[in-house]
Amino acid sequence: MNTVKIIIKKRNNIPLSQKEIEYIIKGAVEHTIPDYQLSAFLMAAFINGLNDDETFFITNAMLKSGQTLVLSNIQSIKADKHSTGGVADTTTLILSPAVASLGVPVIKMSGRGLGFSGGTIDKLLSIPGFKTDITVSDALNLAQKSNIVIMGQTKDIVPADKILYSLRDVTGTVESIPLIVSSIVSKKIATNSDVIIYDVKCGSGAFMKDINSARSLSEKLISISKKFGKRAAAIISSMEQPLGNNIGNSLEVIEAIEILKGNYLSSDLYNLVRVLGGVTLFCCQKATDIQSGSEMIDNAIKSGYALEKFIEFISQQGGNTDIINDYSLLPQSKYKKEFLANETGYISKLDAQTIGMASVETGAGRKQKDDYIDFGAGIIINSRIGDYVKKGDIIATIYSSSQQKLNSAYNEFISAVEINRNKPPKQKLVIDVIV
Ligand code: URA
Repeated sequence: MNTVKIIIKKRNNIPLSQKEIEYIIKGAVEHTIPDYQLSAFLMAAFINGLNDDETFFITNAMLKSGQTLVLSNIQSIKADKHSTGGVADTTTLILSPAVASLGVPVIKMSGRGLGFSGGTIDKLLSIPGFKTDITVSDALNLAQKSNIVIMGQTKDIVPADKILYSLRDVTGTVESIPLIVSSIVSKKIATNSDVIIYDVKCGSGAFMKDINSARSLSEKLISISKKFGKRAAAIISSMEQPLGNNIGNSLEVIEAIEILKGNYLSSDLYNLVRVLGGVTLFCCQKATDIQSGSEMIDNAIKSGYALEKFIEFISQQGGNTDIINDYSLLPQSKYKKEFLANETGYISKLDAQTIGMASVETGAGRKQKDDYIDFGAGIIINSRIGDYVKKGDIIATIYSSSQQKLNSAYNEFISAVEINRNKPPKQKLVIDVIV
């Protein structure tokens, strides 16, 4: 087979065969195809798209580039939730122990933060002692023992994604629905849960800026997952403003613990957890419908079982469980600066992407892939879109261990906020549920 001929075929918008796609993925993993040819292939795929067969072939070839977890020792229906990435999206830390406490095993491989959007692994690593770098066999033992394990991405699972994603990141080819689908679904199939719930973010702080593209991404995620024999569903949720109030690693851990303790149950963050949980329990046949599944999640929180499961999870992965009652044991930043309302009125904009970028400026995220993370840094926002504020009210507090980073985060944050005399229309949090 000839790489140039395959690139030209895709450039001319002619569908590729399974063999041609497998040849490209094998060449990527074995380093027999150079980055410049892979980049040209990715750009041709970005511009001309991949049809459903090609999307399945590339997903399957990526899956086969590495190992698959064998979960046959765990009899119950296993669930996994995947968010397409957002700002202050701490749902995994609340949903996973809640669902696990209800008897549904959660075996997750999560990622690090990517650009302005946070990552579960970075949040967990802000807990002193917590280990995400665990072997596949340890992960299986932990899952069998306690129904919950969250591991970092290993080089043995879907190595093709690591290679292709790092090229996509620097060649302007990230926001392609088939490439996103193959990247996400290959990893989900490799970790091998029976039920996969996709939280597809839509809005300023998401890859999908509008509802039509969010819907088509959701439909493709579901249909390709089903081709692998999985039960899949998608929730399309708004990412116009940060989901939670806290942005940044240890700050988000604190917000998750507060919700697990039964506080802030009317927040958007918890409302999304309820819906995700309801859909998960329904698809896992633990609830007769989504509403009763959401009520089971409420009970898991109110009874304290979800918090107990979270403590067990932290402990079994080496983390210090004293953080639950003493947040001062979590990393904290030395400097803080308040952002005040400069006029009286309704908050009409709290732009998620700009706030995510301001959070990266504090040191809570990475600009380069090997950047050091300031685990205590980030932003706490006191308001939501539609809230009435008076001039001088504190809208947000920005935290950083560096005075210089604090100032640049503050400068970035300024353009995220708009205040208006007229009350803006209410924002819909859950835009659609596709089961
Ligand atoms: N998340 C992934 O894992 N892959 C993508 O391509 C986009 C988001």
